[in-house]
Amino acid sequence: MTFPHSIQLARNPEEAAPRAASLLAGEIAADPRIVVGLATGGSMRAVYDDLIEQGRTGVLDLGALRAFNLDEYLGLAGSDPNAYAFEMRSVFFGPAGIDLARTDIPRGDAPDPVAEAERYEASIRAAGGIDRQLLGLGTNGHIGFNEPGSSFASRTRVVDLAPDTRTANARYFPPGREVPTQAITMGIATILEARRIVLLATGPAKAAAVAAMIAGPRHPDCPASALQAHPHVDVILDVASAAALPA
Ligand code: F6R
Repeated sequence: MTFPHSIQLARNPEEAAPRAASLLAGEIAADPRIVVGLATGGSMRAVYDDLIEQGRTGVLDLGALRAFNLDEYLGLAGSDPNAYAFEMRSVFFGPAGIDLARTDIPRGDAPDPVAEAERYEASIRAAGGIDRQLLGLGTNGHIGFNEPGSSFASRTRVVDLAPDTRTANARYFPPGREVPTQAITMGIATILEARRIVLLATGPAKAAAVAAMIAGPRHPDCPASALQAHPHVDVILDVASAAALPA
């Protein structure tokens, strides 16, 4: 299958992130009450910084956003500095002045994680679904924490993290602290229900995953290849992450 979506190629990560921010900003400007799906991780920081700056200077009203995050580590409370809930409050929701009551993220310390995953799906549905989902890309092709082998029909659920994901994410944990072994993530089918998606992937470590997503077969070995069948995905790459694409 050929990749049917728009691909933007930036020179480097510093040029790529503002392009993702500008897509989101245009849609937030048109409808400040838009429902956005958000991601954590290193690639997203500059996107959030850009949006915060547009909010701070009055260009954009971020106060009415409704936001759902992709995933959370199982076992971490939202007050844990390594929890994605904590990261989102520090790097985006707090500085952007977004009402936390309008944000949602799976609870990593939920007493019943299976029920929590069901609550999360219902919460997205009750909000009317996601208008624009922001995605990063794992070095192994994961989206959210849907690791290779995940069913394209999967919904929000508890997953085991792949060893390479735990290795890649160890850089965000203090020395001596283990990366959790499990997470709650939106499923691939949940992600595919977003009306529009923007995927941002930069740097040489993502090159193989980018090539598999765009030029490989649509197969669970590369979870991101599921996006080939979505009606509207904007892919933003830099030269390094695009390096393994066929000419
Ligand atoms: C994070 C998430 C992950 C990351 C991916 C890339 O919420 O869902 O899929 O987007 O692991 O992470 P970075 O940007 O840290 O390389």
